[in-house]
Amino acid sequence: MPPRVRRNLSLACLVGCAVLATAGVAAAANGGFTPPDAHSPNAGRINDSYYLILAFTAGIFVLVEGLLIVFVIRYRGRDRTKEGDQVHGHTRLELIWTAIPIAIIAIIFGFVFYELPSITGPPAQAANRLHIKIDGHQFYWQFTYPNGAISIDELHLPVGRVAEFDINAEDVIHSWWIPELGGKTDAIPGRTNTTWYEPNTIGTYVGQCVELCGLFHERMLARAVVTSGADYERFVSTTARKELGKMEWEGACGKCHGPQGQGDYGPALASNPILTQPQGLEEIVRNGRGRMPAVGNNWTDEQMRALARYVAKNVYTGSSSGG
Ligand code: CUA
Repeated sequence: MPPRVRRNLSLACLVGCAVLATAGVAAAANGGFTPPDAHSPNAGRINDSYYLILAFTAGIFVLVEGLLIVFVIRYRGRDRTKEGDQVHGHTRLELIWTAIPIAIIAIIFGFVFYELPSITGPPAQAANRLHIKIDGHQFYWQFTYPNGAISIDELHLPVGRVAEFDINAEDVIHSWWIPELGGKTDAIPGRTNTTWYEPNTIGTYVGQCVELCGLFHERMLARAVVTSGADYERFVSTTARKELGKMEWEGACGKCHGPQGQGDYGPALASNPILTQPQGLEEIVRNGRGRMPAVGNNWTDEQMRALARYVAKNVYTGSSSGG
């Protein structure tokens, strides 16, 4: 094969591989290069900042790679040892390549700082705000609503209303993130961080703890369920209380012990009589007794009773002969 043909073939292979390598990324959500569509103003502003930076980086990428390709083709076959024209001491050129990057950084810096207040806090005039407490635990999220109702892993929000969050952690550092509704906020023991959403569309938005927090970090998923105001009221006034035990089992216990208590990382529980003994259950849930993380060290008595009722009825399968 003549060298010229071989070179063209290698180039074609290289281009083909590059296209294949980026195809997967491009086929991912939103082309893979952009964040998911925003459904809350603060998420929208984070996306705006992202698009501004993307515009500059894409422009620079096209310029640099385009010139590279032009030069590769245009100066092919030249003497490799020959030096090009020197530009050292060319004042105008040096001013230009100093001024342009400074201008780009200044534009990005200015824009982000202009957007920042509305990313970190809701508009001052927003009325009828909800205050919800978010606690990160190994390995679940607990939400406490203004009326004292509690839900686990599933945050319910009414559409079109500002919700402010006080975010804490009970054990180690976690990080709260629902990409379609807002940015990441760390959940740190002993410290309260805040963020807010004003969801504009009814739907379910998924998120994930984004701080490596232990063995089951990846199971620490979260859902924000945005509903009508009436559905939200129904959830916090009745549904949350009815479902509390189930949410606790699935969010806190079932992740380690298996959804039916059949055993997973943690031992099988379904036939363990402790499921029928509220006192013993409370002791192990609150303190762990050195055998497991204290998953419910700050649970209220109502939470304990809800769990005890649920597991006795829905998880306990009766004591096996071995106990
Ligand atoms: Cu909690 Cu990762």
